[in-house]
Amino acid sequence: MHVDLTGRTALVTGSTQGIGAAIATGLARAGATVAVNGRTPDGVAAAVKRLRAEVPDAEVVPVAADVASEEGAALAVELLPHVDVLVNNLGIFESRPALEITDEEWRRYFEVNVLAAVRLTRAYLPSMTARGWGRVQYIASDSAVVTPAEMIHYGMSKTALLAVNRGFAKEAAGTGVTVNAVIAGPTRTGGVEDFVYELVDRDLPWEEAQRVFMRRHRPQSLLQRLIEPEEIAHMVVYLSSPQASATTGGAVRVDGGYVDSILP
Ligand SMILES: NC(=O)c1ccc[n+]([C@@H]2O[C@H](COP(=O)([O-])OP(=O)(O)OC[C@H]3O[C@@H](n4cnc5c(N)ncnc54)[C@H](OP(=O)(O)O)[C@@H]3O)[C@@H](O)[C@H]2O)c1
Repeated sequence: MHVDLTGRTALVTGSTQGIGAAIATGLARAGATVAVNGRTPDGVAAAVKRLRAEVPDAEVVPVAADVASEEGAALAVELLPHVDVLVNNLGIFESRPALEITDEEWRRYFEVNVLAAVRLTRAYLPSMTARGWGRVQYIASDSAVVTPAEMIHYGMSKTALLAVNRGFAKEAAGTGVTVNAVIAGPTRTGGVEDFVYELVDRDLPWEEAQRVFMRRHRPQSLLQRLIEPEEIAHMVVYLSSPQASATTGGAVRVDGGYVDSILP
């Protein structure tokens, strides 16, 4: 299957590193003009440079804005008024004992992981439906389905994102715009790599370290290794494609079989 997104503009929130950067690269490879987003101009400029090194003919637009704030979201929309593919990837996570999560932290997780995506959907969905084509996606997590005891605020935010996804898919019904969530499983990003080496012998080479980590700490994974960010990106690129026109309102798993369910 050849995905061609030439002529489409994509915004990937939180795309200076990790899964977001891989998604931005995947969409650029498919021919889309890609807006790279992060909080600081320097961070965004460095990510744009890395992307251009990987995809030399990429059309890239820097969007330095803290989209978790109302003003930041407004700035992003001002810098990039036209979006055909909105990938709400931005998300924060940190473990915290359930009874120690403060009101402020509950609010922050809602603001960053849920409200930021709602705001941008509200901003871009009307023009997509008016044009009769668009793609909105939310990067959720296995934690949306299996609430992690060590970060229930994060789990709550990702579960909420699935409801937001389903709701906006209904809003876009019959318009040619599809709205989907991607349930990502444990993925090899910078923070996760440090986390692995906190739990297993630091002298182990990466391949072995992650297998030991998965066997001991993530035994539910059928993949038995961490997911590579590109593997999440492949699904996002597919869902962004014209070929994915009949998939909407769904929550599609790229979790390595981590969630023990017969439902997708
Ligand atoms: N990693 C996993 O194992 C995993 C598993 C399941 C789901 N997920 C989900 O996948 C998504 C990406 O995770 P990740 O691990 O790739 O994240 P990450 O490596 O921590 O990257 C986060 C990105 O978000 C940006 N960012 C943070 N706050 C921002 C803000 N307020 N406004 C704009 N950009 C902001 C950061 O850029 P700057 O620092 O430059 O601002 C960075 O590019 C998240 O939604 C996460 O919940 C991750």
